[in-house]
Amino acid sequence: MGTVGAGVLRLLRDNADVVAARAGRPIAVTAVSARDRARDRGVPVSGLRWYENAVALAADPGVDVVVELIGGADGVARALVESAIAAKKPVVTANKAMLAVHGAELASLAEEAGVPLAFEAAVAGGIPVIKAVREGLAGNRITRIAGILNGTCNYILTRMRAEGREFAEVLADAQRLGYAEADPSFDIDGVDAAHKLAILAALAFGRPVAFDAVHVEGIRRISALDIGFAGELGYRIKLLGIARAGDAGIEARVHPCMVPEEAPLARVDGVYNAVVTEGDFVGRVMLEGRGAGAGPTASAVVADLIDLARGRTTPVWGASAGALSSAPSVPISAHVGAYYLRLMVVDRPGVIADVTAVLRDQGVSLESMLQRGRAPGEAVPVVLVTHETAESAMAAAVARIGGLDAVLEAPVVIRIEAG
Ligand SMILES: NC(=O)c1ccc[n+]([C@@H]2O[C@H](COP(=O)([O-])OP(=O)(O)OC[C@H]3O[C@@H](n4cnc5c(N)ncnc54)[C@H](OP(=O)(O)O)[C@@H]3O)[C@@H](O)[C@H]2O)c1
Repeated sequence: MGTVGAGVLRLLRDNADVVAARAGRPIAVTAVSARDRARDRGVPVSGLRWYENAVALAADPGVDVVVELIGGADGVARALVESAIAAKKPVVTANKAMLAVHGAELASLAEEAGVPLAFEAAVAGGIPVIKAVREGLAGNRITRIAGILNGTCNYILTRMRAEGREFAEVLADAQRLGYAEADPSFDIDGVDAAHKLAILAALAFGRPVAFDAVHVEGIRRISALDIGFAGELGYRIKLLGIARAGDAGIEARVHPCMVPEEAPLARVDGVYNAVVTEGDFVGRVMLEGRGAGAGPTASAVVADLIDLARGRTTPVWGASAGALSSAPSVPISAHVGAYYLRLMVVDRPGVIADVTAVLRDQGVSLESMLQRGRAPGEAVPVVLVTHETAESAMAAAVARIGGLDAVLEAPVVIRIEAG
């Protein structure tokens, strides 16, 4: 009965007629749970059975489907889902953390019990991306899936660019306005996006979810300076989640990216989320919408309930356990791409030659270089953009460049991505 739970009750009440028509029967909430019974939920809960212990919902004979909207990878949420599956009751959940961390095991439990486990709301809130990837694009071999998967980060980056302000200031503002949590680390450190990417990659490539294999970086180190340079070079900085299938296996990574400003993903601003999928027969498909909030998330939860009422079910990862792929994960060190490198260097002759010599020694070739202003003997920013290069070569070069006397701060490296 939190933000999403109350949203689901409101949707089921306000849209009862369309829901009943599409489900083929009315959907009624019979029992609910939360910690604090006294709290006003903004929707009436009188007349509903109230459980102090959420796990007991699974044993209620008047409950046909359990909707878990508590959150957290473990604890009560997981206990409730496991109990519901054991009691052979279908489960609907919005819990990306639980699915990313325990999804492989929960999918096996659900399959063994013959119980549907639905989670449209777990990725990109109101955007029906699970259904689109798992069902709508089911005839394709998917080669890549990429997206803006965290509305808080996208909101912060959008405002930093629009207002030329620094990260910490905009974060504080976002917290005041309710767009960022009091403890924002899950969002701004990329963990929430990584949970969603792990789920999307599992669906796209038909492989059990592998959260530990996702490379994760957040947006704390993004500065107004780099956002400004990105603009000059024709890019926008976005936190993307990207999963790609190649000959060596599956690469999955979440990190800030330089996206060409003409790419559709570069234009997705504010709290909006978007996902681009590339399939061998369909080509590119992009979905955009609200990735969070009571209304959009409730929309996804109720879509799952309607599917269950209609008897439309799909294996959790799109194929049964025996038919899933065992493709290996490819580490970030094997990534190949172009890079933006920004240094603060002492403005004196020979410094750029030293930097480019290191890049040359590592086989990194440059596409362009940008230096603004002159301040002899003082610190000036220098930006270098590379051609496609191996991550391992770039990492070795950056380590050596960071150690040069004339380089005053840790170098900033941002991967360039097609979007
Ligand atoms: N908010 C979004 O926009 C959004 C979008 C997509 C997915 N989700 C996912 O949806 C889930 C719920 O998110 P939310 O934003 O609705 O969270 P929330 O507002 O914090 O709601 C969580 C609810 O769980 C209840 N709860 C916590 N511990 C409990 C326990 N031990 N027993 C019974 N109830 C307990 C809380 O009770 P009290 O109210 O009494 O504290 C609260 O009603 C999470 O998995 C989240 O990741 C959220």
